[in-house]
Amino acid sequence: MKITKAVIPAAGLGTRFLPVTKSMPKEMLPIIDTPAIHYVVNEAVAAGLDDILIITGRGKRAVEDYFDASPELEMYLKKHHKEDMITLLKETTSLSDVHYIRQKEPKGLPDAIRTAERHVGNEPFAVLLGDDIIHAETPCMKQLIDVSTHFNGSVIAVQDVPREKINRYGSVVATKTPGPFPNDVYKIDHIIEKPKPEEAPSTLAAIGRYVFTPEIFDSIKHTTPGVNNELQIADSINILTQTQSVYAYAFSGRRYDIGDKLGYIQAIIDFALHNDEVKEDVARYLQTLR
Ligand code: G1P
Repeated sequence: MKITKAVIPAAGLGTRFLPVTKSMPKEMLPIIDTPAIHYVVNEAVAAGLDDILIITGRGKRAVEDYFDASPELEMYLKKHHKEDMITLLKETTSLSDVHYIRQKEPKGLPDAIRTAERHVGNEPFAVLLGDDIIHAETPCMKQLIDVSTHFNGSVIAVQDVPREKINRYGSVVATKTPGPFPNDVYKIDHIIEKPKPEEAPSTLAAIGRYVFTPEIFDSIKHTTPGVNNELQIADSINILTQTQSVYAYAFSGRRYDIGDKLGYIQAIIDFALHNDEVKEDVARYLQTLR
């Protein structure tokens, strides 16, 4: 079945970026001049998904305003003959069909995904987490969709990480399985959420891109609080593996963990070095820091 729907959970409190996230959604943190969530929506659209559902919560109105039309601003720009700016603004409203659901309390990622059940219906769907921005020739989500379509099952993106960092991720225990793809495909045995580095069963980390079969909703309903006494999507996936095969794909691409301060700064520097307007000045400036 063709996958057309993307769910983007954006209801988290963003405590790692306090104080700015006190009055601004973390999804709106800019990389140069574009908010993080715009890159995530772009990836979904580039992967062929034309129905985007963003799960928001209190304090997230700026996200809705961002993807909405802005007639006053457009009128002003028209009056001042700033046509290129109008084109830029239009891009934010014409990306795709964007829908919103509010999660009433931040009760964890599985609960945020569960709120999408009615919208998604009985179809496989994509989930993209805003903390991961992935720069890739073929959009990471498109890579996962191809794997999911081939195996007719759920697929999660994985990447090998240094052992000392595995405690930030789901540690995926899986066996390689053959497939007509350029990178390794695995069949998942189970996932341990945020293990201590010395106890992690593997350094294969779950990255915030998933394609789920609709049975994930049942698995979520059976999920009980796990690490940090929170519902964890890794535990829902473990339940799903009991009734169907779940795959992992070592996608190609450069990932920025912008939920982390260093990752956020790295993303800004790398994106600046690829931005025609500023790249030369930024490169020159970085040279002076040596
Ligand atoms: C979530 C998932 C985790 C995954 C990570 C990827 O954790 O629970 O399994 O490895 O995203 O970014 P979070 O970063 O929301 O704590």
